[in-house]
Amino acid sequence: MNFRSDNESPISPAILGAIEKANIGMAYSYGEDLISQRLLARFSELFEHEVEVFPVATGTAANALAISQLTPVYGSVFCHEMAHLYSDECGAPEFFTGGAKIVPLSGELAKIDIETLENVMGGVGDLGVHETQASAVSISQSTELGTIYKVHEVQQLAKIAHSKGLGFHMDGARFANVIQSLGCTPAEMTWKAGVDILSFGATKNGALAAEAVIVFNQDRVQGLDRRHKRAGHLFSKMRYISAQLETYIKDGLWLELAAHANKAADALSKGFYKLSQYSPIEVLYPVEVNEIFVKLPESVAKGLKSRGYEFHHWPGTRDVYRLVTSFFTDLKDVQEILLATKELCDLKNIDEDKGNSCL
Ligand SMILES: Cc1ncc(COP(=O)(O)O)c(C=O)c1O
Repeated sequence: MNFRSDNESPISPAILGAIEKANIGMAYSYGEDLISQRLLARFSELFEHEVEVFPVATGTAANALAISQLTPVYGSVFCHEMAHLYSDECGAPEFFTGGAKIVPLSGELAKIDIETLENVMGGVGDLGVHETQASAVSISQSTELGTIYKVHEVQQLAKIAHSKGLGFHMDGARFANVIQSLGCTPAEMTWKAGVDILSFGATKNGALAAEAVIVFNQDRVQGLDRRHKRAGHLFSKMRYISAQLETYIKDGLWLELAAHANKAADALSKGFYKLSQYSPIEVLYPVEVNEIFVKLPESVAKGLKSRGYEFHHWPGTRDVYRLVTSFFTDLKDVQEILLATKELCDLKNIDEDKGNSCL
């Protein structure tokens, strides 16, 4: 029973089927096949805007390529201190940008604090040629703590960035979970709110090494075709990546898959909330997509692991654990881990006492 990561989920059968369907005969290479040629129209339709689409194999590549479009080598990119591109991509953004500086900012719930960004932007340019050129702001949507920037928050941050001439990037590794959770349109969450470039994730939500850099702002696209090739992401057999992305966004599959992941996380967090009323368990942050951060007594965490439940200890903490659900999470496993937790907390009677059957 794996609650370690949505990266450990399999491929959605519909997406695997799309790969198989694309597997007939010869097809033009390097994105000149019919499926890849259709992608632009499909994504433009989805976002209600003319976009450019660059399929890549990983979220790291999507972020690093996107960022490299927004900054010169002597520039700086502002993001949250927990952002994947700052702390988890082994310097790929610095490498792809040719050495731009990534500047971490603080903020509650892994979201860049609006006032902090305003203050930082207020000082931009004070040191003239001695400082790196402030060039972009990047946000993770959803964040590394499974929280979400609301549309108005994205608008505010993008407005501040744009007012100083900076580009605005969104790391949407779990973009589907966000759109499903908020119920807004992809357009409202991106270009209408001021996003210039989006890293559009699909792998965590049922695809096989298929992500895309989506450019909304035509002023920011120049040269990305060459960067894409230079980074080694212009696949010769692009049709198989494109087929996945096409099927993923067709007929709402992406949101359907995300809905299941979010529903499982919601059920899991509600169960933990209930248990937290009777035990030292604590759900730490709002559960807005498919990630749950929970404080567990060591004996409970150990007990769950020994019963075969897998989840990560959160680095830098003593007793915080992260549980992640996916489109593949079995709701039965959710019920079972809650029952096991209840047992390990010695709370067998709480349902009877409170007449509450949420476990
Ligand atoms: C928010 C976020 N962005 C980017 C990535 C990078 O994706 P990948 O591991 O495919 O490079 C991840 C991966 O977990 C992520 O959680």
